[in-house]
Amino acid sequence: MRKIVIAGNWKMHKTQAESLEFLQAFMPELEKDVEEREVILCAPYTALGVLSQNLHGSRVQLSAQNIHWEEAGAYTGEISGAMLTEMGVSYAIVGHSERRQYFCETDETVNWRALAAQRHGLTPILCIGESKQQRDAGETETVIANQLKAGLVNLDLTRLIIAYEPIWAIGTGETCGASEANRVIGLIRSQLDNPDVPIQYGGSVKPSNIDEIMAQPEIDGVLVGGASVDPANFARIVHYQ
Ligand code: PGA
Repeated sequence: MRKIVIAGNWKMHKTQAESLEFLQAFMPELEKDVEEREVILCAPYTALGVLSQNLHGSRVQLSAQNIHWEEAGAYTGEISGAMLTEMGVSYAIVGHSERRQYFCETDETVNWRALAAQRHGLTPILCIGESKQQRDAGETETVIANQLKAGLVNLDLTRLIIAYEPIWAIGTGETCGASEANRVIGLIRSQLDNPDVPIQYGGSVKPSNIDEIMAQPEIDGVLVGGASVDPANFARIVHYQ
């Protein structure tokens, strides 16, 4: 049975005070929810501690937006698995396209990060997706297959989430059509040895398209950027119909 996972990726948004303001508005909305859907906030590192204290005992889980592959060392600006688990974090995004694009992360380092997450008992949210140029050149399927093959080396498929995020649909307002997202996600599933890995769609998910996206049989949840920083919008997405 595949889990439904709705995750909000705040990216580089929200101070600690702003994160608490978000919770004040968001948590009462969530209490109305009766269905079992995993809800995750992927907050900046600086907000994870205060969020963790305030979410204790709630059903909302926390995710980091990255994780380093080493246990400790001279890696200025990076964060380790132990630092995250100490704060009550249970997930870590790895391989987000913004990390791949702006910070030179490769399939290999993304795989190391995912392995480090699992070593620390965190569930990696592995992001994959093609660029506009690759899509236009008819390379979507090959790009996805290559990212998967390299990203999944030695990973435990029972403790993993995959997010299909076509790069051209991220932060652009241009959503991938729900049926096309469904097709690619089906393709991803066909390449996994475990059919129960939850596979999310990400890229311009918002209250106006969430119902159609979640109606697709292959899509097990969403990774939401822009629309997740607003509590009412994110609550509406969690409560998709
Ligand atoms: P977006 O971002 O919802 O703002 O397009 C999605 C993501 O980057 O995970």
